[in-house]
Amino acid sequence: MTQPLKLRVAALAAEARDVMRVELAATDGAPLPPFEPGAHLTLQLPAGLARQYSLVNDWREQHRYVLGVGLAGESRGGSQWVHASLRVGAELTATGPANNFPLDPDAQSFLFIAGGIGITPLLSMVRWCEARGRAWRMVYAARSRVRLAFYEELRAFGRKVRWHCDDEHERPLDVRALMQEVEPGTQVYCCGPGPLMTAVQEAGAHLPPETLHFEWFSAPAAPADAHGGDGFWIDLKRSGTSLHVPPERSVLEVLKDHGHELPFSCREGLCGTCETTVCEGEPDHRDYVYSPAQREGLRTMLICVSRAKSPRLTLDL
Ligand code: FES
Repeated sequence: MTQPLKLRVAALAAEARDVMRVELAATDGAPLPPFEPGAHLTLQLPAGLARQYSLVNDWREQHRYVLGVGLAGESRGGSQWVHASLRVGAELTATGPANNFPLDPDAQSFLFIAGGIGITPLLSMVRWCEARGRAWRMVYAARSRVRLAFYEELRAFGRKVRWHCDDEHERPLDVRALMQEVEPGTQVYCCGPGPLMTAVQEAGAHLPPETLHFEWFSAPAAPADAHGGDGFWIDLKRSGTSLHVPPERSVLEVLKDHGHELPFSCREGLCGTCETTVCEGEPDHRDYVYSPAQREGLRTMLICVSRAKSPRLTLDL
């Protein structure tokens, strides 16, 4: 794991309704570690909360990180604290940057589909495309115009950005029509609320899966275990013990219950921190880090959400 970063809040601004722009700099003024378009930072917040936020600024900047923090309706405390309590000059610890949503550097054409606060990772991608002279366009959907974050910056790109406000159109974005227009060879990057991303997945089912990329901000409801209601067993290779994982507990929780100190952060299969090597057995991957193609033959799993297709899994622990 990378060394924690000591950061200071350099600026705060309201970016749209319920979206705060947070600008961070190193407390010692040193250049910050570089990042790639699509990368995120994990902020350590009070009460042991760790939250991932995408970096929206130009990936070549090393004097600051800029985040857009949306106030989640069902906030589990992270975004609520940022909106209510964070002040300019406050110091924060962060880890990263890390990137689970990398841009294909060889692609020539991109379609970005953003919903609400899902604009954040896509904004740094747009900057990269502009700098590299790649063809791109964006469709940005929000419930209303006041919720379009980074509006002024995006407006400068003119007709490359198509706006969709649900209240003005009196209906949600027509995802089916949008996906039918996708030209062969275009890489599609989508980030937004679960229903938008699910709609893009379904309407894009005719496209090669490797051309569709998603960044999930929160995990949808998990399906039941492959073995029905009994859960499964994990065998720990190095410690020689076996533990039962019931349906209502994650592998990570069971291991913690039994005294194993393991790294973790989001606990939703979004950040990759809890990645663990699988020696035997077939994992049931439920994370949002690996694409279906990357999961083929993958011998690791994210134990905060992933489960087992086989009755037992042997983990390198
Ligand atoms: Fe984030 Fe498991 S803790 S993926």
